[in-house]
Amino acid sequence: MFKINDNYLKLPGSYLFSTIAKKVAAYKEANPDKEVISLGIGDVTQPLAPAVIEALHKAVDEMSVAETFRGYAPDLGYEFLRRAIVDNDYKTRGVDLALDEIFISDGAKSDSGNIVEIFSTDNKIAVTDPVYPVYIDSNAMAGKTGEYLQDKQAWSDVVYMPCTAENNFTPDFPEQTPDIIYICCPNNPTGTTLTKDALQNWVNYALEKKAVIIYDAAYEAYISEEDVPHSIYECDGAKECAIEMRSFSKNAGFTGTRLGFTVIPKALKCGDVELNGLWARRHGTKFNGAPYIIQRAGEAVYSAAGKEQTKAQITYYMNNAKTIREGLNSLGYKTYGGVNAPYIWLKTPDGVSSWDFFDMLLEKANVVGTPGSGFGPSGEGYFRLTAFGSAENTAKAIDRIKNI
Ligand code: MLT
Repeated sequence: MFKINDNYLKLPGSYLFSTIAKKVAAYKEANPDKEVISLGIGDVTQPLAPAVIEALHKAVDEMSVAETFRGYAPDLGYEFLRRAIVDNDYKTRGVDLALDEIFISDGAKSDSGNIVEIFSTDNKIAVTDPVYPVYIDSNAMAGKTGEYLQDKQAWSDVVYMPCTAENNFTPDFPEQTPDIIYICCPNNPTGTTLTKDALQNWVNYALEKKAVIIYDAAYEAYISEEDVPHSIYECDGAKECAIEMRSFSKNAGFTGTRLGFTVIPKALKCGDVELNGLWARRHGTKFNGAPYIIQRAGEAVYSAAGKEQTKAQITYYMNNAKTIREGLNSLGYKTYGGVNAPYIWLKTPDGVSSWDFFDMLLEKANVVGTPGSGFGPSGEGYFRLTAFGSAENTAKAIDRIKNI
């Protein structure tokens, strides 16, 4: 008789954002007259930039003619896109990467879930807590996290590094030495960041412990402060210990279009084995590439017009962040983030639990947010709002919260 991967049975509930979607759907069904505003999942609302649309149309036309039609994309992604990434995202920040250190994909979510495959089940993983659930769930599916401890809302074999207001959302080095360290900066869900020095300390720590850092930089385009690194490779030695993941979802609105990339420098090795080669093998075997038209759209993000237009989108969302932050602060809420990231992390008032706050906000203000505890045990007592709504809905949501 066949057997299933019973690691899946250990997973508690459904994926966080699926649970929320179900709850909201049930509420809407029971209250069809209510207009619900979602500031929950970090999904963009602004249309794709004109430069991106133009590139898409052009690429679609190319696909209609035999001479310019494209079939399977090259394993690593089209060179035009990898070159645009190397030149614009890295060279401008003093980081030299080779084209074959960049792997184009359909997004950072897939990459961060799939990357676990190239590591042994014996590795001890460490995550900042609260954490983007994909890092933990994908390791749990691969049997790398031990058992789920319901009372602690945590996995037995995962090293949790609490990030709360008490430590200024900067994780301390854990007591137990990890092999794989997940860092997301600017952080989802807290919207906070690490300084360049703090990140350099993590790079030094990883080098010393022979650990690897999986660095999620999906929100780097939102950085507004000087002392926040845009790439982990701005830190000395990071090429020997870090994998970096990026996304076009948040910097250019590709959540429904799907495009991202992972950087694995050749200098990153386990003994004599380059991780770059392992990922290339995996990519070549299991992935047939992001579509040509989407890679052309990604290339357009780096054009002069694309840069200007996507920057305007980011300014738009960051104005929403300001509306949320200032609105909540004026009501006496303690808020974090929202300066270098499109997420505002707030402390729930009077010790109310994250899920109770979720229910209260949905019922009394018809506003959806994300309960902090859904991101890990240290998220309890916190709540996340996203700045990715429309400006009108964001202002309306804050007004409603003011009127509770
Ligand atoms: C979030 O809301 O945390 C993100 O939208 C999830 C994602 O990017 O996959």
